[in-house]
Order: sequence, then C-alpha cells, then structure tokens
Amino acid sequence: MAEVQQPAYDMIIFGETGFAGKYIIREALKFLGTQSSPLKTLALAGRSYSKLSEALKWASNSTSHSTIPLLIADTSDPHSLLHMASQAKLVLNCVGPFLLHGDPVVAACVEAGCDYLDICAETEFMETMEVVYHEKAVKKGSLVVSACGFDSIPAELGYLFNSRQWVSPAVPNQVETYLSLESEKKVVVNFGTLESLVWREVYDNKLVELHGPRPKRTLPQIPGSEGSLIEHQKKIGLWAMKLPSADATVVRRTLSMLIDNPTGLQGVDETPKQAEKRVAYWSKIKLVHFGVKIATKSLIGILIIIASGLSIGLLGRFTISKWLLINFPSVFSLGVFRKNSPTEDEIVSASFKMWFVSCGSSGANKKLDTEIITRVMGPDIAYVTTSIIFVQCALTILRQRGDL
Ligand SMILES: NC(=O)c1ccc[n+]([C@@H]2O[C@H](COP(=O)([O-])OP(=O)(O)OC[C@H]3O[C@@H](n4cnc5c(N)ncnc54)[C@H](OP(=O)(O)O)[C@@H]3O)[C@@H](O)[C@H]2O)c1
Repeated sequence: MAEVQQPAYDMIIFGETGFAGKYIIREALKFLGTQSSPLKTLALAGRSYSKLSEALKWASNSTSHSTIPLLIADTSDPHSLLHMASQAKLVLNCVGPFLLHGDPVVAACVEAGCDYLDICAETEFMETMEVVYHEKAVKKGSLVVSACGFDSIPAELGYLFNSRQWVSPAVPNQVETYLSLESEKKVVVNFGTLESLVWREVYDNKLVELHGPRPKRTLPQIPGSEGSLIEHQKKIGLWAMKLPSADATVVRRTLSMLIDNPTGLQGVDETPKQAEKRVAYWSKIKLVHFGVKIATKSLIGILIIIASGLSIGLLGRFTISKWLLINFPSVFSLGVFRKNSPTEDEIVSASFKMWFVSCGSSGANKKLDTEIITRVMGPDIAYVTTSIIFVQCALTILRQRGDL
C-alpha cells in the first residue's frame, strides 16, 4: 500500500511581515521544537524574502532561527497559495483585511486539505467562507476556523465560563459583557482595523459579486433581554455603550449551533473518554442573550467614542471624505485611530479587562435575584493577547486534531 505523504511543516505562518504577524511568530518561536510542544517544524510565508527574513530577525531577537524556511506566497497568485498550503498541516493566516485577501487563502487550504486558522474579525467573511467552502472542506478533511484572536476567543470563553457557574435550579436571564481598554499612555486602535471598517462594504460587495448573494441564515431566538444602549454599570463602576463587535455575532453563532447540538459537535476521531468530556462540558452551557459593550470610567469617555464612531460612519460614506479618513486617521477619528503602528512602549503599557455580568434567578420563582460576574483580563489586545491566543489555538489543533 502506498504511504500517505505527510506535509513538510506542522505549521506555516502567512503574513508574518505584518504588525500582528511579527508578534505571532515571536510567540510561536517559544514553542518550536520544545519537548512537550506538538510544533516541531515551522515555515513562514509572505511576498518578499527580504521582508520575511527581516521580520524573523526581529521576532527571534537573534539569528538562531535563520534556518526556518521562508516561502513566497501572494493572495493574487492562487498557485503560490496552493504550493504553500500543500506543504502544511496547518496555515495561520495573518493577511488582512480578510474580506479582501482571505478568500483565496481559504480556497487553497481547503483544496490542499490542510487546516486553516485566522485572526479575522469580519463576520461577513466568516459567513461567506462557511457557505462557500463547508461541503468541500468536510470532503477534504480541512478544518477552517476564523476569529482566533482577541476577536473572539476571550468573549466566547468568558461567556462559557460564566454560564457554567449557574447551577440548576439557578438560571441566567442574560449575559452582558463590558470591555475596557486601558493604558498608562493613550489608547489607540490599530490602523488595519480602521481600514477594514472603512472599506468593509466595498470588499463585502466584491465577495458577494464573486460568490453570489449570501443566504440569510436565520438564527434561532435566544431567550433573554437586551440591555440599554448606554448605561452606568454601578457594580463595576463603568459607563458603557453597545459595541457592534464581532464578539456578539461569533458567540451567538456558537449558541445557535448548540440549539441543534446541545452536547456540542462530535470530533472526527473522538475517543469515548473525550466524548464523555464533551457532553459534560456543553450540557452545562445555558443559552441566553449575549451582548457586548465598550466601557470607560467616565461618561466623557463614552461621548468621545460616540463622536468618533459618528465621524467615521459619516466620512466613510463618501469617496473624498473616505480618503481624508484613511490618510489623516488621527484627526478625523478624533484620535482613536492612528496611521503609525503603536510603539513597543505603548504595546507594553496597554491592557484590557472584560467583565461578564449575568443576572438571573436562583430558583423556580423566576425572580431576578442572582448576579454572577466573571472578569477576564490580559495585555494589549491587538498584538500581545492576539498572538498568545492564536498560537495556543494552533497548538491545540496540532495536539488534539482528532477530538475536533
Ligand atoms: N482579531 C484580532 O483581534 C486582530 C488583532 C490584530 C490584527 N487583526 C487583523 O489582522 C490583519 C493584519 O493586521 P496587521 O496589523 O498585521 O496589518 P499589516 O501590518 O498591514 O499587515 C498586513 C500583512 O498582510 C500582507 N499582505 C498584504 N497584501 C498581501 C498579498 N496580496 N499577499 C500576501 N500578503 C499580503 C502584508 O505583507 P507585506 O509585508 O508584503 O506587505 C503584511 O504581512 C488585519 O485584518 C487586522 O484587522 C486582528
């Protein structure tokens, strides 16, 4: 019988020369070849050898990793993507905006039958990829998972943890999440996020043109009430307003999957012990309304966020004002976005806290008399937290692929 050829690399990081990519390779190198790590072989891919080796040098802080193979791949060249994907068990995609660049990368990974992870926060992209590639991915044995960065792992794990603390007969009625970004310096959001926001509609239209209209997926009704638009959350001492983030959509998609599969999804080669663990875990999750709010210590902070959101929303509608927004982001987003990448100092001083506040009743009387608050916190969201989470997702896939 002919032997099935194993891919040359456990993992390829694509888009390593970007700001997020550099931090991701730095994080991945900590696990490369260590005794307990499933990551034994790694390659990096991008558009230029010189940029790739420069980024690797920065990430490794020395030349000791100069033997890591560098591959050339470009999202405008499907052959280069297929060549990359066919050499990997798993591709970590950091090339964004994903609505613009992600589709051919997913197509190549599915075609090659390798697994794919990204740090996308563009929900239209995730939905399109599911509609277009699901069946082929199943046939080819390729696992495609989006949103493996700050968007949306802390939100999902925070919700699940909080939910499991409600022990019958106690039941929650809703879970509201409050996200607070903190820094000793100024909190600035990365330019890539602004670009994705401004061009989102244009890129999404292109994707729809290519694949046809996206079938509207009707999400089942999840019980629970939505909170108010702006509120003062006294328990955590913060002002907050609703945030149209990927987190809410991603968590709701998980909850709607649970309505059809209350004990979770079966893994491809799941052992009976793993199946038992899965059932025990997912059966404790309660399905209730989940919302996300951005929170600050003062009402003024909320007013600045609203003014910046309105400015971006209005300017993003017209060609000339769009140009102004993209070229002078700090002026027209009222200082929330900036063109230059954050400095190392700014990244080190940034952190986040996320509170999951659920309320519900302690018994059958349905009186809202119980509250459970979970707090998740960590370093800078866009680069440090995202790279830690992304690499941990990758190691989990390499280690436990059969259970997934
Ligand atoms: N989920 C989260 O929490 C989170 C956190 C951080 C970032 N992100 C997302 O991650 C993405 C990257 O962010 P970033 O700040 O790293 O952006 P960036 O610094 O602009 O990096 C973009 C990367 O894409 C590569 N690229 C661009 N066009 C390409 C093409 N045609 N073919 C191959 N590679 C191409 C660039 O390569 P060159 O060097 O050759 O130009 C670069 O490596 C964005 O979509 C951002 O929104 C998400």
